[in-house]
Amino acid sequence: MRRFALFPLPLLAALTGCGGIQTIGGREGRDAALINDLFTLFCIVTGLFFVAIMAFLFAGYWRRRGFRADRMPEEEEALAAPSHDRRLRLGLFLWTGAVIGGLMALAIASFFTDRSLAQPNGAGRPVVSIELTGNQWWWDAKYHFHDPSKDFRTANELHIPLGAATMIYLKANDVIHSFWVPNLAGKQDLIPGHVNDIVLVPTKAGHYRGQCAEYCGLQHAHMALDIVVDTPADYARWLARQQQPAATPTNPQAATGYVYFMNKQCSACHTVAGTPANGQVAPDLTHVASRATLAAGTLPNTNGSLHAWIADPQGVKPGNNMPYIGLNADELHAVVAYLETLK
Ligand code: CUA
Repeated sequence: MRRFALFPLPLLAALTGCGGIQTIGGREGRDAALINDLFTLFCIVTGLFFVAIMAFLFAGYWRRRGFRADRMPEEEEALAAPSHDRRLRLGLFLWTGAVIGGLMALAIASFFTDRSLAQPNGAGRPVVSIELTGNQWWWDAKYHFHDPSKDFRTANELHIPLGAATMIYLKANDVIHSFWVPNLAGKQDLIPGHVNDIVLVPTKAGHYRGQCAEYCGLQHAHMALDIVVDTPADYARWLARQQQPAATPTNPQAATGYVYFMNKQCSACHTVAGTPANGQVAPDLTHVASRATLAAGTLPNTNGSLHAWIADPQGVKPGNNMPYIGLNADELHAVVAYLETLK
């Protein structure tokens, strides 16, 4: 890797194939771009010093070639000459200056990057306020508004508007988790009994992937978070839909699924707004069919995955808190049909 150290990070990312929706080479958020610039500067400065040190080392070997044991007295005489002494002093002086200058440049750049990252409102007052709670192993999100009647809950997928600041309050219910969407910003821990926060200021619309970045148990690796950066118009549309309660199913199979959902264990843990289901210990399913993945990024949200997940949640994600319900085939198809109406 070291021989690429002179390349700016985006080029490095492209060369190593580190592009995409979850990469430290991403700069689609204000903080990510600041961190990336600092990292690129570190790579350039340390790369230059690495090259210089290697050059001196090989120059030393090269000069040493001509030295011979039987000519040592002559060599020593040459080294003791006053002109050699002067050159050596000048060289040492320049090198010490370069080392101090390089370290100072990195320290000053770090200081200013740190100050910029600490500015909470890089794009003005946050326009979105989200309470995000880490659970083993999923993300519970509550969107808060000045008018609390507009508040809603969702899970494992956040939408945020492009170009505006989103304030995310981070909490944890069980153990320490860590919020990390490298394309947008640095990491921030979610700690039980303590509220942390992070401000996201996305600069490019798109779909990004976050990952819990603190080992939190068996399914830590399956604790992903989808983040969709919408244009303001798309965000407003998404918001309007999320604030609606779930529609009553009209197709007979989905209507049967609704009855099973409300009467089996499902409704004890999950909420579907506008229905009697108001369990709080599992992901809100009011608009589950609009989300890209299931089980915190474990499966794509398809008909087949929904069947697999409900039929055998422990086979898909061992250790998670969703129990085996024991639905027969008709019940399973019906519950899936109902969930697919929750757009
Ligand atoms: Cu949550 Cu790792």
